[in-house]
Amino acid sequence: MLSKRIKKLSDLVSPDRLRVFDLCCDHGKIGLACADRIAEVFLIDQVPTIIEKLKATDIPCNVHSLCADASNYQFESKPRDCFIIAGIGGHLATKILANILATGLEGIEIILSPHSHHEVVWEYLERKSVKGISFDRFFDQGKNYEVIKLTVDYTKNFDSLKFLKKWEPLQTEDDFLYKQIDYFTLKSKYEPDQYKWLSFYQARLSYLKSF
Ligand SMILES: C[S@@+](CC[C@H](N)C(=O)[O-])C[C@H]1O[C@@H](n2cnc3c(N)ncnc32)[C@H](O)[C@@H]1O
Repeated sequence: MLSKRIKKLSDLVSPDRLRVFDLCCDHGKIGLACADRIAEVFLIDQVPTIIEKLKATDIPCNVHSLCADASNYQFESKPRDCFIIAGIGGHLATKILANILATGLEGIEIILSPHSHHEVVWEYLERKSVKGISFDRFFDQGKNYEVIKLTVDYTKNFDSLKFLKKWEPLQTEDDFLYKQIDYFTLKSKYEPDQYKWLSFYQARLSYLKSF
């Protein structure tokens, strides 16, 4: 059975997508969960043994496994592509995002769920030409997750807090924001440049509490 996280991520892929790229795929479960409804699925990881293992597995014929570094692979994207970037830290996620956006076409869908340093991703997205489609924050198997769904849209300038104000109140209550505030309260004492993230999470929490 798929975990709540993998189901949530794969369910977010819009039905009109023709290709899905499960980047940093490891086990490949996210991409594989889309294979019965999407024409072509690409499982991409930079570790050769992971790709060899996937190739040796009995996977559907519309699923292709590829050994590549997602942060500099030339994707030759098409408007109805969906890129899933999940289970990696915020720093790598932004490098991969930058690679996609550098060649990205209007209409490309991106599903993002870093497992740490979420704030690096929010900072990167600020004023980028992307439109926020949805946001989800949830708890699964002892961990908090954030999932952001975006499309490339050159008429937009992304505004993280504005986007979150719309979506955050719809999320189930958990202690994620409190944990982030505790973390950045401590971190900003030693690294003053981290204070902005304390303010960022405090702003999210106080907005949420205003309801
Ligand atoms: C923790 S797994 C995440 C698996 C899956 N995406 C998920 O969310 O469950 C991280 C994977 O990222 C891969 N990886 C790390 N850097 C990468 C890069 N630059 N390009 C492609 N794969 C990368 C690692 O080899 C590893 O298999």
